[in-house]
Amino acid sequence: MKRKIKVMLVFGTRPEAIKMAPLIIELKRRKEISTIVCVTAQHRQMLDQVLEIFNINPDYDLDLMQPNQTLTSLTKNAIEGVDKIIKIVNPDLVLVHGDTTTSFAGALASFYNQIKIGHIEAGLRTYNLKSPFPEEANRQFVSTITDMHFAPTMNSKQNLINELKPENKIFVTGNTAIDALKYTITDKYENKFLDWAKDSRLILLTTHRRENLGEPMRNIFKGLKRILQDFNDVKVIYPVHLNPLVRKIANEMLGNEERIKLIEPLNVIDFHNFINKSYLILTDSGGVQEEAPSLGKPVLVLRDTTERPEGVDAGTLKVIGTKEIDVYNETKTLLTNDDLYSSMSKAQNPYGDGNASVRIADIIIKEFNDVPLN
Ligand code: UD1
Ligand code: UDP
Repeated sequence: MKRKIKVMLVFGTRPEAIKMAPLIIELKRRKEISTIVCVTAQHRQMLDQVLEIFNINPDYDLDLMQPNQTLTSLTKNAIEGVDKIIKIVNPDLVLVHGDTTTSFAGALASFYNQIKIGHIEAGLRTYNLKSPFPEEANRQFVSTITDMHFAPTMNSKQNLINELKPENKIFVTGNTAIDALKYTITDKYENKFLDWAKDSRLILLTTHRRENLGEPMRNIFKGLKRILQDFNDVKVIYPVHLNPLVRKIANEMLGNEERIKLIEPLNVIDFHNFINKSYLILTDSGGVQEEAPSLGKPVLVLRDTTERPEGVDAGTLKVIGTKEIDVYNETKTLLTNDDLYSSMSKAQNPYGDGNASVRIADIIIKEFNDVPLN
């Protein structure tokens, strides 16, 4: 009998963990696969929140996170760290996710060791290397050295085809973000912060992107404060990212607002259910742009670009940038125009049927069927 296919997943941040978790669960169900989990811990607390919810005990934990870490030091440490683990494990396939420093470093370490790479959430593009920064570069680098591209949508597949990646190595699977929602959303959900907001229209806010740190983030918050002045039936909940640079601006500018609650990052069950109970969402997050269309919640995207045009086409997302006037005007319009609100609230999910992990596992087994395993 053939030995098992050794598949090692490498990830390190909250969003990667949320989207890798359903895949880990699925791979572990397959008798043909031996699943190894290596976390860089590029994030620490925010990663651990996810590992705990999904009951994942990593086989290897590089424990890399440093306060105020730089891209350069993190990249160096992640390449060296993953390299060491690859030499111990000798996997047949390394799976990385998306566009973080961990994804890039994990893929590069695999490439240098001549290990096959599978890229989950492949083919997302803005073609603007400054937005999002440095993620657009990371995902393009990863695509260059990837053997199996797991694209969430036809649009992401087309981007890869345009870049001359071999079509027979591009697999459209849906996004595992939708798989994760199956584990988290519940109708009976209750929470004290939601009680606080229950007689108001709730805006759920998140921001953390590097290109928004500083003036853009200040401008977003100024626009939001004007909304609160004009609409006394609106409250805001903002689970603040643990990046100290984000927390400083958030505390300075929003810390004393009566109708804004600045809270610690929520675990993923709480956060998904907060989306479900919100009136609208303001965010620069990537993952939230995938989850909200599925839950029928309008999203104003606090960025100049998006790599998720499917959500815009579905009518749920609108990219509004970070200028104070735009944040104010666009939010005001959505709060006052009922027709617009109801058209943006139609739940249309362009990111798959929640079975992406099953497809990815099937494809891996099929691909390795004919490959001699050393
Ligand atoms: C990273 C990813 C970004 C992703 C985001 C998800 C890169 C370059 N960036 O950005 O693509 O959208 O994660 O949230 O890969 N911190 C903690 N505890 C944590 C997490 C972070 O204290 O659990 C603090 C640390 O001081 C850390 C800082 O936040 O140095 C920044 O973390 P880092 O992973 O470098 O960047 P993010 O902005 O989180
Ligand atoms: N999320 C969470 N708790 C929070 C905020 C977000 O669990 O307090 C989840 C969210 O549902 C999504 C992911 O984290 O799945 C997005 O992470 P983030 O915005 O940090 O990164 P991005 O997706 O922009 O890379």
